[in-house]
Amino acid sequence: MGGWVTVMEPDEYGKWLSGTAASGDPLAVGEKLYSELACNTCHLPDGKGRGPSYYGLYGSKVKLADGSTVLADDNYIRESILQPNAKIVAGFQPVMPSFQGLVTEDQILALTAYIKSMKDQPPPGKSAAEPATGKK
Ligand code: HEC
Repeated sequence: MGGWVTVMEPDEYGKWLSGTAASGDPLAVGEKLYSELACNTCHLPDGKGRGPSYYGLYGSKVKLADGSTVLADDNYIRESILQPNAKIVAGFQPVMPSFQGLVTEDQILALTAYIKSMKDQPPPGKSAAEPATGKK
């Protein structure tokens, strides 16, 4: 059994209807979910959190702990959210909780859109001479 009921205040519902709550835009929804579901506590842009940065992730080849590589496409991101331990990124611990049953398909798509939007950002650590400290 699975279900998802969103309860909204009339005021919120009005905003939702008129689109000001950004519900129509997967990218904005994804960004919101990213902090609501606390993905941002582990996935820091600079890669210094407990999880990898999303910068430059989408479309890249991810090196896994078992030595293989995988293309970071929609399927991989979906699987990473639902079954984080199916593929462990090299250099990281399998500490990510599964979001199976906690996110809807639409929310997975929104999160994917958000991750995709960062594909052209420079991945941390790969931009050569960046000093690890001193910069905020
Ligand atoms: C407790 C910390 C933690 C939280 C919270 C967390 N993650 Fe992760 N995540 C990780 C770690 C650590 C890895 C790398 C190890 C692995 O592959 O499981 C990872 C891997 C991933 C990957 C694969 C990244 C790559 O570079 O290949 C994606 C995509 C991802 N997480 C998405 C999410 C999303 C979306 C959320 C929120 C819904 C989330 N994570 C919440 C820790 C976390």
